[in-house]
Amino acid sequence: MGSTKSKLIQLFKERKDYVSGQKLAEELEISRTAVWKNIKELEKDGFVFESLKRKGYRLLESPVSISPSDIQQSLRTTELGKPLFYFQEVTSTQEKIHMLAKEGYPNGTVVLAGEQTAGKGRRKREWSSLKGKGMWMSVLLRPPFSPGKAPQLTLVTATTIVRVLQEFGVTATIKWPNDIMIGDRKVCGILTEMKAELDCIDYLVLGIGLNVNQAEAEMPEELKKKATSLYNEKNEVFKIEEIVSHLLNRFEQELDRFYKEGFLPFQKEWQASGYKTGEWIDVSTWNKPWRAKVIRIEEDGALTVLDEYGEEQRLYSAEILWNDHYHS
Ligand code: BTN
Repeated sequence: MGSTKSKLIQLFKERKDYVSGQKLAEELEISRTAVWKNIKELEKDGFVFESLKRKGYRLLESPVSISPSDIQQSLRTTELGKPLFYFQEVTSTQEKIHMLAKEGYPNGTVVLAGEQTAGKGRRKREWSSLKGKGMWMSVLLRPPFSPGKAPQLTLVTATTIVRVLQEFGVTATIKWPNDIMIGDRKVCGILTEMKAELDCIDYLVLGIGLNVNQAEAEMPEELKKKATSLYNEKNEVFKIEEIVSHLLNRFEQELDRFYKEGFLPFQKEWQASGYKTGEWIDVSTWNKPWRAKVIRIEEDGALTVLDEYGEEQRLYSAEILWNDHYHS
């Protein structure tokens, strides 16, 4: 969204009341005609305003629906997002895409939802998926390799998301294995699910949940300290359609690169944006807690850490307490 429009929205959200055309023009240092034009454009974007002769404008509603045709128009892909299914409300886009996969839908099929009533996180956690506030999306892939490489694919997805966020002016890091963080708060999670035989993948589903336009007040109480959204960080309303099309365009290129060149280029990129690289964290394996320093990510997707005896240890899965209480 252009910055005048987002400044206008920001202003209305702060004032929560009527603001006169004159005041808006002064605050934004534009003419009253420009204010009027921007308001008309915002109305086209789905914002609803009330305007009263002597009082000015008041924001009544923000858009909540996503326009799949806007996404399709900006797609430059051959396979990703072809087809793209949009549902205003689903239990979970993962569920939908598993159904489509079983019906034989091709590599690149995408399911996007305005709202999920039973969004799924990793380890059977719930994923809060408010209406119109985030990118709730699942991508179906039929990758040409063995199941052992699936963790790498999750890491490729994570590096791609970080790159795309950077293109939107947001600096994020990757918390191994698949959380995207802004500062110490999670903005995006990836859920990888797979149907495979021992040596070949039937299909793989990447579920991506990105918090986009939630204001902090809209987040569930228990998430307020742990989670954030792009809106929270940038004070700007983002167009979910733009993020989806950018991400799919970029992701197709990155997947190609991964299939051709392997994981090495991504390993380096991952390393550059790894959350807490070089810092001490608490790890628990086999229910035994120990302290470790984050070193690097390996080619197979493992996280290498240093233990307190200076020995390198590779972690494939572990309970990690990323909040370090012992080391500064
Ligand atoms: C996590 O961090 O635990 C992973 C969260 C993944 C959430 C996304 S939202 C789109 C897709 N549909 C779901 O039900 N879950 C994933």
